[in-house]
Amino acid sequence: MTKEQIKAIIDQMTVEEKISFCSGHDAWHAESLARLGVPEIMMCDGPHGLRKRAKNEKGEYYTVKATCFPPACAMANSWDPSLAETVGKYIAEECRAEQVSILLGPGMNIKRSPTCGRNFEYYSEDPYLSGKISSAFIRGVQGEGVAACAKHFFVNNQETRRFSSSANLSERALHEIYLPSFEMAVKEAGVETVMHSYNRVNGQYAGENKELITDLLRKKWGFDGYVMSDWNAISDRVAAYKAGTDVEMPPSNGIRDAEVLEAYRNGEITMEEIDNSVANVLGVIFRHLPEEGKGSFSAEEHHSAAAKAAEECMVLLKNDGVLPFESGKPLAVIGGFAKKPRFQGGGSSHVEPLRVDDITEYLNAENGVEITYAPGYDEKHNTNAELIAEAVEAAKACGRAIVFAGMPDSYETEGRDRRHMKLPPAHNELIKAVCESCDNVVVVLMAGSPNELPWVNEAPAILHAYLGGQALGGAVARIVFGKVNPSGKLAETHPVRFEDNPAYLNFPGDGDECFYGEDIYVGYRWYDKRKMDVLFPFGHGLSYTKFEYTSIKAEGKSVTVTVKNVGGVKGKETVQLYASACPHPVISTFVGESSFGFARPEKWLVGFKKIELEAGEEKSVTFELCDRAFSVYDAKIGDFRVIGGDYDIIAAASSRDLRCSTKVSVENEVTVPVITKNTTFEDLFYDKRFPKHIVDELVKAVIPNANDNNGEGLDFDAMRNQNGYVLRMKITSIKCGKSLAELIEKANADIREYYGK
Ligand code: BGC
Repeated sequence: MTKEQIKAIIDQMTVEEKISFCSGHDAWHAESLARLGVPEIMMCDGPHGLRKRAKNEKGEYYTVKATCFPPACAMANSWDPSLAETVGKYIAEECRAEQVSILLGPGMNIKRSPTCGRNFEYYSEDPYLSGKISSAFIRGVQGEGVAACAKHFFVNNQETRRFSSSANLSERALHEIYLPSFEMAVKEAGVETVMHSYNRVNGQYAGENKELITDLLRKKWGFDGYVMSDWNAISDRVAAYKAGTDVEMPPSNGIRDAEVLEAYRNGEITMEEIDNSVANVLGVIFRHLPEEGKGSFSAEEHHSAAAKAAEECMVLLKNDGVLPFESGKPLAVIGGFAKKPRFQGGGSSHVEPLRVDDITEYLNAENGVEITYAPGYDEKHNTNAELIAEAVEAAKACGRAIVFAGMPDSYETEGRDRRHMKLPPAHNELIKAVCESCDNVVVVLMAGSPNELPWVNEAPAILHAYLGGQALGGAVARIVFGKVNPSGKLAETHPVRFEDNPAYLNFPGDGDECFYGEDIYVGYRWYDKRKMDVLFPFGHGLSYTKFEYTSIKAEGKSVTVTVKNVGGVKGKETVQLYASACPHPVISTFVGESSFGFARPEKWLVGFKKIELEAGEEKSVTFELCDRAFSVYDAKIGDFRVIGGDYDIIAAASSRDLRCSTKVSVENEVTVPVITKNTTFEDLFYDKRFPKHIVDELVKAVIPNANDNNGEGLDFDAMRNQNGYVLRMKITSIKCGKSLAELIEKANADIREYYGK
């Protein structure tokens, strides 16, 4: 449908219809309008499988069964965007089969604290990794004709008091850490809907932040879809409307529609604003019409895809040589999670799985092993001495054991944060006892976040299955028996102690105020800068083979790394590339300033590639580094800017396993903006590189009757509401009587002086 056709529909709508169109029809449908041929479309959670709520013949709600793929916490460990894209495609196929037009995912918030209850739904502590995996997922979903929804915009990193708490942070942390995944979702994946978050940011509700929703997301990044509220997130509908929140979800039974109507009648909201939102929604609806009978899928094929994904996501944390296990020998399988695995988290993302792998069956069937099963802890995850004794006996009798442990459902769910990083004491006691009595023990962990592992030195091998989705059982068996070589790497740091984590002192905040005191030092940026030991570093993951990094070369900003598989089996390695600012020869005498007055992390991720190598094979991978790799967010100019100097570019197998490095020199590019006679007033107002006082002076000279708030400076928003039409004009369109060329010349000279150029 063209913009003109959409406009033609809008022109026929009454103002009441338009306003009602800007809230959902119900909790899971966008508003429709049969009179004008606008159909109803459905949206469903997300993110790692379809969660469609439907009614049975008795009118009772149930959740339609779907494939449960590994949640984001696991998917990120794959470090494989193409895998995320494939999973997105499969989930979208299930959406289409159920006539669902919008998938409410992915969740792309940054893991600030390891105890956020919803971390299992998020990808990483690192914005680049999070952005690359989530935008690939979005491309997969949208490539199948289903709209994705980037959520929760923005700085939503805790569940405690999520409806009211304020994330209080610096502009630099906001732009360098918390926004880039969303930026990539727009720029690299063209995401079609965005869900704003519940929380406030620096005191203001996320959905009421015009600067970020309209000026940044829509105008600067080029977002072209619609912004919806999180469910029941709206605080002030009129303020949210004006900020650019197009749709309230779910609807308020007309209550807030009446408020919007009143605001329209008293001139607070313009018809143009309302029309824009309606057009945004209609655009998405007509691009994603449900098609009856389309998009059938094979549950078998999707299960296999979920299994493949799970294999790529599991991380071998430790291996003293016990793994892989040999087939054909007895095996003690210990822990209730072997029978009832944890493979997803609780809350709105909870999928009703089509099936769930029985781990013991896979361990047995494919490997011809005789299994002795012992539950090890009771169903409520309490310690039970008899069950521990039984498990120990089984381990001794078999001579080898797998202990399944992790966080029970109640530990990881939307709406609640954890207060510690501990596993249930019953799991710790069981693992200790089994490791004391048997040499060949593998601990398989199932949890969506890091835990303290008091038995880490005693356990010969640890495989972290994270939350592996419905097909994790087969994947565990294939990795344990060496049919699949593990290749997952951690997308987050596992600290030694809870108290070590960057947000420890400021999470979840005082009442409704949460101070992001660690600033840009989130995840490994914190542990590195503070030179702290960690339990398992960001990027860590072992393989059954070994990789040697044989060379690194840079040509301009293009860096080539060569890696060789020097072990005995085929395997996959994720080559990680980090940048690190070399101390500036002059400025580095000042503590904490590594280049041009900006404190920088020790290093930060600027690229990664996962490659498969046969035993003995050598391969080269090339990375093209872009400006952002060398930039900081400069709050003074309201933008990123490249900081010139020398950078070490480090090729690494993890953030603490640095293999080789090279140097790249970068020019200090301060892009000084230039005004021409064709610059629009909107550009002047919203491109923050233009200093406000210079813009004010120029605009007042060009539009002498501009309302300057009694000398306080121009209020762009007020001007926009009074005369939005003028603001879209270029400067030269206004006949100001004075010599425009001179005025522009003076403004440009002032700007150059401001930037010291
Ligand atoms: C969650 C969203 C979810 C929505 C609909 C909210 O509580 O925060 O992520 O999409 O509910 O279920």
